[in-house]
Amino acid sequence: MNKCASCHGKPSEGRSDRAAFFKPAAPDFTDAHYQEIDPAYLYWRIEVGKTVEPYRSQGSVMPAWSAHFSEEKIWQIVAYLQARAH
Ligand code: HEC
Repeated sequence: MNKCASCHGKPSEGRSDRAAFFKPAAPDFTDAHYQEIDPAYLYWRIEVGKTVEPYRSQGSVMPAWSAHFSEEKIWQIVAYLQARAH
């Protein structure tokens, strides 16, 4: 994915070195808890990114994507992330 891999890492490289560099660090989406996490939470995080608390105060660099993707597209990304977790 050309919009997310720059920070989160490509599927082939797992969690990239860049992910750990950020403060707060970008998460490891292969982590098992992403299978069970509430999909609505992931949707919301992709939608609003760093623009809400506590992420804003933490200095997160995660962009808000609601202006870039349709609702359907964001749900597709959520499904993709949850399918990657193991
Ligand atoms: C500029 C770097 C950057 C880009 C580009 C980026 N992210 Fe992030 N993302 C982060 C960082 C850093 C965090 C961790 C801090 C946070 O939770 O806000 C994060 C957090 C997240 C979370 C929250 C995870 C959790 O457990 O709370 C989701 C979901 C996510 N990103 C999805 C995406 C998706 C999908 C894309 C592409 C459409 C994307 N990100 C693009 C840097 C980025």
